[in-house]
Amino acid sequence: MNRPHFPVLAHLSANEFLDQYWQKQPLLIKHALPDWTLPLSPDELAGLACEESVESRLLLRQLGDQEWVLKRGPFNEQDFTDLPPDNWTLLVQAVDHWVPEVRELLNEFRFIPDWRLDDIMISYATEGGGVGPHFDNYDVFLIQASGTRHWQSGQLCDDRSPLLPHPDLKILAEFKTDQDFHMEPGDMLYLPPGVAHWGTATSNDCVTVSVGFRAPSHGEVVSDYGLWLNDHLSDFLRYADPDLKAPSHPAEISAEAITRVQEILKQYANDPEQVARWFGRLMTEPKYPENAMADLEPVTAEMSVADDARLAWYQSEDLDTVYLFANGQDYALPASLKTTVVAVCDNRYVSASHMENLSASERESLTALLTDLVENGVLMTAE
Ligand code: SIN
Ligand code: CO
Repeated sequence: MNRPHFPVLAHLSANEFLDQYWQKQPLLIKHALPDWTLPLSPDELAGLACEESVESRLLLRQLGDQEWVLKRGPFNEQDFTDLPPDNWTLLVQAVDHWVPEVRELLNEFRFIPDWRLDDIMISYATEGGGVGPHFDNYDVFLIQASGTRHWQSGQLCDDRSPLLPHPDLKILAEFKTDQDFHMEPGDMLYLPPGVAHWGTATSNDCVTVSVGFRAPSHGEVVSDYGLWLNDHLSDFLRYADPDLKAPSHPAEISAEAITRVQEILKQYANDPEQVARWFGRLMTEPKYPENAMADLEPVTAEMSVADDARLAWYQSEDLDTVYLFANGQDYALPASLKTTVVAVCDNRYVSASHMENLSASERESLTALLTDLVENGVLMTAE
């Protein structure tokens, strides 16, 4: 799977990009995808935005009073007919879940771990359209698929950055332009989290493809691991103080008490296998669990991973166990199945060859795993 070169990065190697730009500074790559054409038309994108199970937004800019109007999908034909000729944008989330050719674009970004991926969002804008000055907590690669757009990047923001008063939108009240980027089809702009940015369509038919990568907040890491531990630990494991000394002030929480609590927390943070088992589940939870559909077909020789399925794996430190994580589930497997697990995750495909040269018990474990993955909507019969 180690690919020496990723064409989207032009002259940079994956490690050069990661060292110099990833989570550090914006980067414009002209002609990053010179031959790539969007595999769906603006009408098909609008069609997706009319589907109940697809997340979409329309953002209109009313220039007179500088007001931004947000409408959430699903939309109908009339919603599009009612739009003004310019200054609006349609944004459709997770198009990679619905259009296999869009999902294929993700192969160009496998210099970032799969489990960091959020989704591919596609926006269509008329001249003047955009989502306004804002920042995201995620890394994003913005690919210009058609038309032209003027991007500006600005200051580094955080939760203290002032926002315009709006019930649903997080539009920055201040924007200090640092760099300007004039994007043409095939160009790509990388933006790290927190960097203010503002994209305005400078033509009609301006289509931007956002490949977004997510990162859990510290609060989410600590609280989600806490919930997982609560489900897995015996209630008999308790704070203990057999070394207690009589306090001079009974209401005081002593430094020793805090040290004992810290020891409890450290004990669970210091167990890599436990952390990995929980983290793999968290990072492969489906984006839209309600959309996960089980294939009713039985396990067959050739199966592909569903476009919306998230996969990851981890090998235990003692090398005895390989954990496969799929859509928020974890499967502990013997290390002898590692090659199979890695191949399935790398290629997002299961072929008959994976059953070859296995012992009877390995074959049994693999069949049970594949059956479960089919039932959970992770695998489906290859077309
Ligand atoms: C857009 O495509 O208009 C917005 C993308 C972004 O700013 O993250
Ligand atoms: Co953004």
